[in-house]
Amino acid sequence: MIDNFKKDIDSGLSSSPKSLPSKYFYDEIGDDLFVKIMHSEEYYLTRAELDIFTNQTQQIIDHLQLKKDTYFELIELGAGDGLKTKKLLKSLSDQNYKFDYLPVDISQNALKNLEKSINKELPKVSIKSKQGDYFEVLESLKETKVPKIVLFLGSNIGNMEDEIASQFIYKLGSNLNKNDKLFLGVDLIKSADIVKPAYNDSEGFTREFNLNLLTRINKELGGDFDREQFEHQPEYEESDGIAKSYIVSESNQKVFIEKLDKTFEFEKGEKIFTEISRKYNDQIIQNLISDTSFSVSSKLSDSKDYFSTYILNRS
Ligand SMILES: C[S@@+](CC[C@H](N)C(=O)[O-])C[C@H]1O[C@@H](n2cnc3c(N)ncnc32)[C@H](O)[C@@H]1O
Repeated sequence: MIDNFKKDIDSGLSSSPKSLPSKYFYDEIGDDLFVKIMHSEEYYLTRAELDIFTNQTQQIIDHLQLKKDTYFELIELGAGDGLKTKKLLKSLSDQNYKFDYLPVDISQNALKNLEKSINKELPKVSIKSKQGDYFEVLESLKETKVPKIVLFLGSNIGNMEDEIASQFIYKLGSNLNKNDKLFLGVDLIKSADIVKPAYNDSEGFTREFNLNLLTRINKELGGDFDREQFEHQPEYEESDGIAKSYIVSESNQKVFIEKLDKTFEFEKGEKIFTEISRKYNDQIIQNLISDTSFSVSSKLSDSKDYFSTYILNRS
């Protein structure tokens, strides 16, 4: 992990324009901050998806065509705290479906907390968590031939550029079997006055979450970033439907990172790109899956039409 972290930080800060991969947001502090973001007034995404999981739980089960007498694996990529998934797990467990829940996350801390809360709240659910980058975990899906449902919620797919997302779904399909399902939760394109505040909440959790990347580099790689000299900057235009987060340098400055034995220069106003959060519509989803083995079998949306969950069938 530390070697990949070093390599990725070095390559991101050496490139022009500079960037840092969003997967490194999630250390213990980042996990806690993300939970705070999810509950913030401005971050509508979690509430909208939770609305679907709370009010349409049985429709989800019906649309996934689950059978009570057939064992299946419920795999979740980037599970986080499992807030929404627990609604589905409870209903499946109450109705005696036979399944294992297999959450995958890059954060060991998030998985540890998730296991603890599932064991407490839903003791009948069998949970087998797997730590790792979900790109790397895809291969291991091939190991069993049992029916699989893959949950990819929270519009996590939107953290990938379209081309990468498409390759990811293609690779996922090639590791699954006929009639396995991908349950994809995505945020929909909407106006900037709703989207932009979601990435700039008034309590400053998103700002802290973004800048925590610098703290993490200081802590784990011996960096000397002065956090006061950097600022969080979100951007979103409805016409491209893509929210972007940056960290902006407030002055001309140099930062030394001990474990890389390297100094990086930043100009005043220079932006470090940290995260893309793509928004979707039916056409964009169709384009993403057009070269993959998936087709849309159904879609559920929340009461405000902010968010959709697509059920994709592997042919
Ligand atoms: C935005 S949170 C969403 C959590 C959850 N899916 C939800 O909807 O509430 C993203 C989660 O994915 C995990 N994650 C991010 N990038 C990842 C990667 N490349 N591989 C595995 N997990 C990743 C993070 O640790 C975090 O728990």
